[in-house]
Amino acid sequence: MSVALTCGPFDLLHVAHVNLLRRARALGNTLLVGLSSDSFNAIKQKRATQSYADRDAVLRAIRYVDDVFPEDTWEQKAHDIRRYGADILVMGSDWAGHFDDLARHCTVRYLPRTEDISSSLLKASIRAMQ
Ligand code: CTP
Repeated sequence: MSVALTCGPFDLLHVAHVNLLRRARALGNTLLVGLSSDSFNAIKQKRATQSYADRDAVLRAIRYVDDVFPEDTWEQKAHDIRRYGADILVMGSDWAGHFDDLARHCTVRYLPRTEDISSSLLKASIRAMQ
């Protein structure tokens, strides 16, 4: 039984998120998602259009996601890896190198990003349509 872990704000869930979640799930038997809380988004100077509860509900409806928990700080990843017995941390390649130090705790994999889509791009195109 192997546990994969991924993290992020997952606002305005889009096809690149689904691709990442599907590929991450295929690397384990279980996929856990550390979902950025509103306070953590603020630390990252991001603001989600949807509440934590709504982003959580949308993620839980995805068939590749087994469980979701709040991520409040950068520092908690090592703790979460141990707490959930994660075997692999999976992130998109925009994070390449950022979490290499966690390789002390589990395998760290960066997957190629899906091109030409992001929550920020969606927000910009919605604004442009108004
Ligand atoms: N991701 C991806 N390909 C994309 C967009 C996101 O593989 N085109 C991955 C990220 O690398 C991350 C996960 O999806 O591992 C969650 O990313 P998130 O920051 O929630 O999505 P973005 O669309 O990148 O959001 P933003 O535009 O606000 O940065």
